[in-house]
Amino acid sequence: MAAPRERPDAALLRQLAGDSPVLAVDSLVAGYGAMEILHGVSLYVARGQSLCLIGPNGAGKSTLLHAVYGFARIHAGTIRLNGEDVTHLRPAQRLRRAGLAYVLQDSSVFPDMTVEENLLMGGYLMRRRADAREAAAGICSQYPALARRRGQRASVLSGGERRLLEIARALMMEPSVLLVDEPSIGLEPRFVGMVFELLSELQHARGKTIVLVEQNARKGLEFADIGYVLVAGELAMAGPAAELRSDPEVGRVFLGGI
Ligand SMILES: Nc1ncnc2c1ncn2[C@@H]1O[C@H](COP(=O)(O)OP(=O)(O)OP(=O)(O)O)[C@@H](O)[C@H]1O
Ligand SMILES: [Mg+2]
Repeated sequence: MAAPRERPDAALLRQLAGDSPVLAVDSLVAGYGAMEILHGVSLYVARGQSLCLIGPNGAGKSTLLHAVYGFARIHAGTIRLNGEDVTHLRPAQRLRRAGLAYVLQDSSVFPDMTVEENLLMGGYLMRRRADAREAAAGICSQYPALARRRGQRASVLSGGERRLLEIARALMMEPSVLLVDEPSIGLEPRFVGMVFELLSELQHARGKTIVLVEQNARKGLEFADIGYVLVAGELAMAGPAAELRSDPEVGRVFLGGI
């Protein structure tokens, strides 16, 4: 049996993100109510970088994104965005002040609203409705698949188009960091490719920082620069995503044997 690995330390994690992380999570202890799910997790990612979290069901991957966004209870540790301590800011403040957006794991499209109305919901923090309309028009010009359906109810969209709409809606406030939970879940393979191309364009052409959770570990690690493995609320492994992809232990547990 292989010797147990050492847990990745903060120095290694920082090194993976370069010198100045745009998002820095230090020794986070967080959960829901009194229940502690994350037991001292750190995470660093630089501007324009992508990081993929993998791990078994219930490991706390979504909880880590929740905590970064402000949905979970934080017992200890800090979260810094662009150098600002946001640990105790509310989600809307994180979005407005620090440019953080979140695409939920569960489908979050409003089915009875039109595509355009769904986009406008992403601009709910904008003071002037005209600004939200302008942002929605800008998004439609980038994504013709949405522009073509802007007046239709979201319920008629395919699974892939819904995911596109969810991601596009998160772009309304022009966030610099996107948290994306399970973007490929429930999608047919052709749409999975489309979603990763979209994320790749956001990262590489538009300089967004992307932290994603992905059950499809192979796809997630192909896409991302950095990979973290979370097990039972603690980091078990971390490294360049390409290295994790070729690691036999990761292969055996998460990639169906390689
Ligand atoms: N809103 C909540 N309130 C209370 N407990 C929660 C809540 N959300 C998640 N949990 C619990 O926190 C633990 C971690 O769940 P989490 O959703 O973070 O795991 P995950 O790694 O994202 O799993 P999956 O791969 O199934 O999405 C689980 O035991 C879960 O039951
Ligand atoms: Mg989850």
